[in-house]
Amino acid sequence: MRGSDPRWTLAELRAQALTLWEHEYSGHFAVEERFVFPVARKAIPDPSLVDALLADHEELRSCFSLLQRRPPEQCRDLLLKLGERLVRHIRREERELFQALQASLDECAMKALGKHVEEQLPAMCLVLGSADA
Ligand SMILES: [Fe+2]
Repeated sequence: MRGSDPRWTLAELRAQALTLWEHEYSGHFAVEERFVFPVARKAIPDPSLVDALLADHEELRSCFSLLQRRPPEQCRDLLLKLGERLVRHIRREERELFQALQASLDECAMKALGKHVEEQLPAMCLVLGSADA
């Protein structure tokens, strides 16, 4: 990390990643698992995509948990791995899951799902973010 961006120390990058996890990603994961994935599993032609996305979530949760337990000087490779896996996961959701949902749900069902996620997300992020504090 230091070699790629000398503006940030490993301790700062680790702290930023953990803050993002607590206040954003953990809430996103929970909302997807409770509301989006069950709908997708029933609606899209290949539900194994949902299994793959759930496996991504588990791997990412393990990485963040490990990050929490490791001292900053031992986090370089883990931070690089986390960044790469997060980007890959988000792309997969945007390019594969969202496309499959759009192709499988009618406009009304798609809007209802989007509205539900929008309503749940802030509350879920707040609950999960404060639960770890
Ligand atoms: Fe996700």
